[in-house]
Amino acid sequence: MCGIIGYTGSLVAKDVLISGLKRMEYRGYDSAGVAVQDGEGLHLAHRVGKVANLEEAVSGGFSQGTCGIGHTRWATHGRPSEQNAHPHTACADDFAVVHNGIIENFAALKEELIQAGHVFSSQTDTEVVAHLVEDAYQGDLLEAVRAAASRLVGAYGLAVVCAAEPGVIVCARKDSPVVVGVGKTGALVASDLVALIDETRDVVVLADDTFARLSYQDGRGSIRFCDAQGREIHPEPTHVDWDISAAKLGGYPDFMLKEIHEQPRTIRDTMAGRMVNGHLQFDELSLSVEELSAIDRVYIIACGTSYHAGLVAKNLIEAWSRIPCEVEVASEFRYRNPIVTPSTLVVAVSQSGETADTLAAIRDARIKGAKVFGVTNVVGSPVAQESDGVIYIKANKEISVAATKSFLGQVVALTLMAMLLAQVRGGLTINQIRMLFRELADTAGQVEQILADTSAIDAAAQACKDAASALFIGRGIGSTICYEGALKLKEISYLHAEAYAAGEMKHGPIALLHDGFPVIAVATKSPTYDKVISNIQESKARGALVVAIATEGDTEIANHADHVIYIPKVRDCFSAITASVPLQLFARSIAIARGCDVDHPRNLAKSVTVE
Ligand code: M6R
Repeated sequence: MCGIIGYTGSLVAKDVLISGLKRMEYRGYDSAGVAVQDGEGLHLAHRVGKVANLEEAVSGGFSQGTCGIGHTRWATHGRPSEQNAHPHTACADDFAVVHNGIIENFAALKEELIQAGHVFSSQTDTEVVAHLVEDAYQGDLLEAVRAAASRLVGAYGLAVVCAAEPGVIVCARKDSPVVVGVGKTGALVASDLVALIDETRDVVVLADDTFARLSYQDGRGSIRFCDAQGREIHPEPTHVDWDISAAKLGGYPDFMLKEIHEQPRTIRDTMAGRMVNGHLQFDELSLSVEELSAIDRVYIIACGTSYHAGLVAKNLIEAWSRIPCEVEVASEFRYRNPIVTPSTLVVAVSQSGETADTLAAIRDARIKGAKVFGVTNVVGSPVAQESDGVIYIKANKEISVAATKSFLGQVVALTLMAMLLAQVRGGLTINQIRMLFRELADTAGQVEQILADTSAIDAAAQACKDAASALFIGRGIGSTICYEGALKLKEISYLHAEAYAAGEMKHGPIALLHDGFPVIAVATKSPTYDKVISNIQESKARGALVVAIATEGDTEIANHADHVIYIPKVRDCFSAITASVPLQLFARSIAIARGCDVDHPRNLAKSVTVE
């Protein structure tokens, strides 16, 4: 939701902080700020909007101190303004705090602190932390943060500095990611290791209710860890073998386009090592064959794009292993007492691995005795930590707020999981699985083919860019990716879009159609192809402008649609992979034509770590 960073070392802190904040800007871009410590105390700067505004503000005579904290915000409590931008200070500017998460009991704490004489200057929940630390401080910042944290209810990743302890940063974590590491020039903390990776690849992912004290002395950074009782702990570092190029544009105009082009590699990497001696291999799933065989229901829980990947998987799981599978948005699942038993398999899908609703749903499911598999892109993320087994999609860092390569990675991982269930339960023969595996691998090349010529997609986008609304229709797997196509269009171009199972058109949505109204139809060759053609004809009869995603070699469709975007022929069960790519490019092309910032859509952040 927000990005926090802290640095103590030999470099000018503001430069390290700004560069880290830029990399974490996908987490929020309502405002940004830094607090830098030097011999004269703490120096603060806040700006509304992107990190570039803050960078400009500190480019002149700002403190050259070598210890500081920074923040990029996605507003929850208090509108985006300089006043509400982090870091927040207490009554005097002696303590500064950056925070990612939500302090649920902040109103009661604020009231108590005001009664005790504290003066507040923002509407945020975070400011109470600064005042609590100020109250508790008796010469030891770590102890003061620990005491303050014991009063907090909610989620937090915190980094705190104080004027009285030069070169020291204290961090705390509860349900919000915090990563720390000692690098080449000092010690660092951040919400995401993307901000640390230039300095070190050996990091510690803080566990819940633990604390870290970062310092820099005699040319060396060091970190001390303790638990909520103040007992020293020694967590194991994790080595990160990530490709840093993921955090750079590498010649592309935006991360969304870059990440769309990384999809063939995502497919290959997610599949790598999964077929061993002709059998599917998932060593990291901790369930035995007996336990897998006993599963009588699958729930896929997720949000947004990850939910759409779940919709695709439902079709495959039910078709191949005949296990009933329900897909549910996590924010509903967690509040409605679903039928979950010890023989239920819950699959939690989350690119970031930190979506609050998905995490809460995982916890609920485990309390009810279900086994939980996580499917995530982020190693060591809360979803990975809290699941019984985890499959990592190998999409590498995804920066653009609009999920693209992670969607394809999720679809591939879930397809493999569906094959695994079918392998265990005998729904598919070994030969069928091997053949499907080969065809799944072939989709990487087919996506490359789509990416090689996007002229038909751009032409269709030009024709639709000025519309006020658009309808996406399809059937079967085709309908599932319509939901994803419509979401992509909405979130990056602000053009209203709705997805419908094409068979439902006549039950209401057809009333929307008029001359020139864009209908995007997924009409690939499938068992329901003829039905979709009928729906296209019905749309044309009402004056709609039809864009069809169709299978190469289908000349018939050109008689019905205004624009045809051809994609290579694949088996229907893999059509979500190929057909979603033109929908991503279509949405981006419209967004660019409408002058939108595709990587930073308004009101959004990459990870939703609050309810
Ligand atoms: O990190 P997660 O996969 O849990 O995130 C879920 C959604 O917030 C995410 O997919 C969102 O819908 C994207 N902006 C879609 O492009």
